[in-house]
Amino acid sequence: MSDARIIRVAGAIAEASPMGDVALYELVEVGERKLLGEVIRLDGQVATIQVFEETTGLGLDEPVHPTAGSLTTELGPGLLGSILDGVGRPLHAMADRSGDFIAPGMSIPPLDPKVRWAFTPTVSSGAEIAECDVLGTVEESPGLVHQILVPPSTQGRVAQIDAGTYTIEQAIGALEDGTPLRLSHKWAIRRRRPMARRLAGDRPFITGQRVFDFLFPVAEGGSVAVPGGFGTGKTVIEQSLAKFARADVMVYIGCGERGNEMADVLHDFGRLTDPQTGRPIMDRTVLIVNTSNMPVAARDASVYLGMTIAEYYRDMGYHVAVLADSLSRWAEALREIAARLQEMPGEEGYPTYLANRMSRLYERAGRVETLGSPSRTGAVTFISAVSPPGGDFAEPVTQASLRVVGALWALDTGLAHQRQFPAVDWDTSYSLYVEATSDWFSREGSSEWSTLRLRTMQLLQRDRELREIAGLVGVDALADDDRLILEGARIAREFLIGQNAFHEHDAFSPVTKTHALAKLLWDFMTRAGSILRDDAGFEKLDLAAVRLAFGAVKTAAPTDMDATVSRAADAIANMGAT
Ligand SMILES: Nc1ncnc2c1ncn2[C@@H]1O[C@H](COP(=O)(O)OP(=O)(O)OP(=O)(O)O)[C@@H](O)[C@H]1O
Ligand SMILES: [Mg+2]
Repeated sequence: MSDARIIRVAGAIAEASPMGDVALYELVEVGERKLLGEVIRLDGQVATIQVFEETTGLGLDEPVHPTAGSLTTELGPGLLGSILDGVGRPLHAMADRSGDFIAPGMSIPPLDPKVRWAFTPTVSSGAEIAECDVLGTVEESPGLVHQILVPPSTQGRVAQIDAGTYTIEQAIGALEDGTPLRLSHKWAIRRRRPMARRLAGDRPFITGQRVFDFLFPVAEGGSVAVPGGFGTGKTVIEQSLAKFARADVMVYIGCGERGNEMADVLHDFGRLTDPQTGRPIMDRTVLIVNTSNMPVAARDASVYLGMTIAEYYRDMGYHVAVLADSLSRWAEALREIAARLQEMPGEEGYPTYLANRMSRLYERAGRVETLGSPSRTGAVTFISAVSPPGGDFAEPVTQASLRVVGALWALDTGLAHQRQFPAVDWDTSYSLYVEATSDWFSREGSSEWSTLRLRTMQLLQRDRELREIAGLVGVDALADDDRLILEGARIAREFLIGQNAFHEHDAFSPVTKTHALAKLLWDFMTRAGSILRDDAGFEKLDLAAVRLAFGAVKTAAPTDMDATVSRAADAIANMGAT
């Protein structure tokens, strides 16, 4: 038993002494109300503790008790569909117990201990098992089989294992040395889960956003930073991906953003169905909610919690997408804690270890061969919003992200003002996954995918140069060829890259639709080019009809897609006919 007492409280930080035998990152109960805290510095008998809950009212001389554990979460069936706070407590269960406000010091595991799961073993007694082997399965949701995994660093011979219906607390069997086997296990969230080896990403994470899938693709297991100034559409992108993109499991981390936005998420996600499967999207989703009014230390924990849950489903052989909004708020939490600790500040007041922490976090993304048998391949794709103050990408959080990510989706304030959404700046954005995913796109999209992409990139680049010139000399002074490039780029911006997140039929663009629009764009360029070469003059192009046809494709219901595409092809073919 420790006699530690609080000797200082400053915001989310408390100091206690004499702490006795306690480890760095050990979890402690702080004060009479047993607030959840974590030891982040040890100096002789004085422990500095970051408290995951509101410290108002916490007084000097209140007791502090070590727990002999670190910040862990429980991993097992029942995570899907849950809404957790930054340290992994289910918000519904907490609200049930304490009303709308979260009572302090409530330790509730993320998984409901009362729910019973039908377990079917895939190993039998006598089997030698080791970490991450599959013991059997539970149908967690209608579309997802939950593989019950041997906890990391456990091994032995199975004495007994039985099919049956179990809660997560009951033993489903035991090892010969008496170790019980269960449906769930604990994991310290700051540690990444082990794996056999990293694999290169070779297939795209289909975002359903044309500008990403077509121009700046991300591979499964890739990482992307989405920096953008105020109101440039970061949240809309993260939420659109969480709702519609193609992954087995989605982990959405609302990190330090506005509470009303999270309320919208909870409302929307609760009633939407996955267009592909027809099942509620919450069936494949975990929401982690840590809004700006919640304690900053829990904000630090929330991203690790999200990553841990993602790695756990990865270990079952699934593709998981982690969507974080916003990593800047996480970094600000680190800054606030570092300031309380009176650490030597680095650039813009962020702690000197910011870049290091960030790269370790981003590195938890990846496509991997898992440990254990049977062998599985899984992936965690990580897409995080970054909120640079004033939209200035030179700041530390954006820069630290850029050093490690495989793709940059840079959002531009000017484009957002023009209501060109998603406001992705195609000049500064990039993807290192273009090569790795091109085979997949040529196979599943079309053999022309890469060519169309390259030509579109060139078109957009040439468009920018020409617009600068046109700004000086006027559009009419441009040659017809050049005017055609401006028209083509306008079509590309409006109908191919531009996508309305709030239009029922445009919020998600399947690869076939993305390809159809790209192909129509280049059919138009070819047809218009040949008309202009015949000296027909620019007026001969019936641009109004063509633009109307593109607009119809963009917003067509899936059942009308083929018909609208062929009408647009006709409109293009008929240009110059009269
Ligand atoms: N794809 C889109 N389609 C239509 N409108 C969009 C789209 N993306 C963004 N918007 C518009 O831009 C507004 C701001 O977007 P959003 O809230 O995502 O910005 P943000 O970058 O997250 O802002 P903040 O910096 O305040 O967090 C939205 O409310 C919406 O009106
Ligand atoms: Mg936002």
